[in-house]
Order: sequence, then C-alpha cells, then structure tokens
Amino acid sequence: MTVQQNISLKKYNTFGISAKAKFFCEINTVEDLSQALRLEEHPKKFIISGGSNMLITQDIDALVMHINTKGKEIISETEDNVTIKVMAGENWHQMVLWTLENGYGGLENMSLIPGNTGTAPIQNIGAYGVELKDTFESCEAMEIATQQIRSFSKQECQFGYRDSYFKNRGKGKYIITSVTFKLSKKNHALNTSYGAIETELEKKNITNPTIRDVSDAVITIRQSKLPDPTELGNSGSFFKNPVVTKSEFDNFTKENPEAPFYKVSEDAYKIPAGWLIEQCGYKGKRFGDAGVHKNQALVLVNYDNASGSEILDLAHRIIKSVAERFHIQITPEVNIIK
Ligand code: EPU
Repeated sequence: MTVQQNISLKKYNTFGISAKAKFFCEINTVEDLSQALRLEEHPKKFIISGGSNMLITQDIDALVMHINTKGKEIISETEDNVTIKVMAGENWHQMVLWTLENGYGGLENMSLIPGNTGTAPIQNIGAYGVELKDTFESCEAMEIATQQIRSFSKQECQFGYRDSYFKNRGKGKYIITSVTFKLSKKNHALNTSYGAIETELEKKNITNPTIRDVSDAVITIRQSKLPDPTELGNSGSFFKNPVVTKSEFDNFTKENPEAPFYKVSEDAYKIPAGWLIEQCGYKGKRFGDAGVHKNQALVLVNYDNASGSEILDLAHRIIKSVAERFHIQITPEVNIIK
C-alpha cells in the first residue's frame, strides 16, 4: 500500500468535482484497510468508495482511502435461495448484473444505481419500490478505532428511508467491508407495481416478465430520466423527498391539489422534492457550470468545472425557494464534505 500526495479526486467522485486529496491510498484488501487506519503519521482519514453520494466542497486535508476491495462469494444455497457475500469495493450495478446473469432475483429494481456495494447500506439505497433492506442479510464493518471486524444484522442496521445506523449513532465509527444478501433462485417476488415499470413492460409487450426484463425496464427508465455521471457530473437525487405530518400534508394539498404524493403511514406523507423544485422554476436551469437536470429536478449537475461550493450555493437557493413557497424544508440526501 503506497501513500501518494496531492491527488485530484475528480475521477473518484461522480459529481466530477476537482478537489484534491492531500494524501491518498488505494485499499485493495481488508488488511490494507487496517494498515492504513493504523498509520499514525496520518491522524486524519477520509473514506471514498464509489464517490456517488457526496459533494466535495474543498480540498481534503487528510489521508483519503479509496475502497477498492473486490470479491463475490456464495455463502450458502438451497433450492430456493442463495446467500452471497460481496466485498465493499465491488461496483453496485456490475454486481447486480452478475446476480441476474446467475438467475438470482431481488436486486433487479435497483439496477444502474451508481456507487459501490459497501456504501449501499449506509443510506439504504432504493429505487422503483425496492430498498436494499429487502434483500439484506448482514454486513461486516471494521471499527475505525480498533480495526476489529464486526457483523451487523439487518435489525442492528436500523434501516429507514435513505437512512441507517451508519448515518446516525454509527456515523464515523465503522467502514463497511462486505455486504451479504439473500436472493431468490426461483419463484422470484417481482415488484413491478411502480407505475413506470409496468408502462415500460407494456411498451415491450412483456406480460410475464423475468428478473432480466424488470432490470432492463428499470435501466431504460433511469437512462431516460437520470443523467449518466460519466457524461454529466451528478450524484443522483441531491435531496431527500420530504416526509410531512398529516396536518402539514392537509395544508399543503389544500393549496396544491395537483401535487403528487405517497402515503407512508397514517401520519406521514412523502412529497416528491423534484415536483417542489420544478414548481419553483429550477428544472433545467443553469448557473455557471452548476445546474438542475432538465428531466429530473431532484438531480443537481456539474456541467464541467463547477466547484463543490457553487453546487452547494445552488442547493441552498433551492432549499430557500421551496421553504418560502411551500413551507416545506427539503434536506440534502448527499453527504456534503466541508
Ligand atoms: N417529479 C416532478 N418533477 C421532477 C421530478 C419528479 O414533477 O422534476 C414528480 C414525478 O412526476 C413523479 C414524482 O415527482 O410524480 C416522483 O418522481 P420519480 O418517480 O422520478 O421519483 P423521485 O421521487 O423523484 C425517487 C428516488 C430515486 C429513485 C426514484 C424511483 C429519492 C430521493 N429519490 O425519486 O432515487 O430512483 O424515486 O424509485 O427518494 C437516488 O436516490 O439517487 C435516486 C435517483
């Protein structure tokens, strides 16, 4: 493991922000990770994995450790199910394609989500009616303070909407080293209830979809709405969809009867932040090299050389406009690195 100096992080974050790491090293094995954490000459450490859920707003004055651990392993299987363990540095989408090639079901709705497998549990990634927690069995993580590996059950991860233990009490304490999923081998529980998937399958005249068909539909939908980070820097949804109480929701719908929403429970309603932002006039707007995507207002984009602070300024303007117009507070989903 070698430590390099003054490395540009542009290719390590999907926003394509040109910040620098004062020190940088590749983590190819769990042993590298534990060694790097023990380097006393670098007391400040910073972890970067797929770099798909962060906005870097300045150079990072620390040892940036790039998680690049690879490996996929079948832990156990029955006639119906298979349990697989995936190392943290495996690219999420490539891993999903591998499960589909092997006929394993469960991750198809989450095709094409950027990022690596190890960071998926942190915010319980989700798309088209399915969340990571639905197939998650457990994960292993290294405790930063002791370099001990410990296992976390699904319950211990305390998953919520784009939320987990690792974003709350466990924040900054652990580095996930592998994730274990339980997938189906037959009688796959397909989830095509999300409107856009059904429409896409109908377009292709598919009435009895396979897991591959669902994945293909999701890929088509995502490609039509969400910018490809290799072509246009972005971090997926920049904001979370706000969840409001029943009384807040009643006030909101009285004034905005046309607004889309999802009922989460009797006293919780989710309102699409993309809709709120679009209503405020930001969709497709560009301010220098920072902008709001033309097909999905929830996504902020870097046209070329926007700095992290320019993107953050735009985010703050949007938050303020939405609060003034709708009295709803939206919050970033991406991690803002200051
Ligand atoms: N909408 C607008 N204008 C926009 C964008 C959306 O009016 O510019 C409306 C849509 O018409 C629709 C509603 O908002 O009625 C919801 O839109 P969509 O189905 O595109 O989903 P979303 O709520 O905007 C969430 C996730 C996405 C995920 C999709 C599909 C969050 C923060 N985002 O977006 O996740 O792919 O659902 O499941 O929950 C991500 O986290 O990076 C991400 C892309």
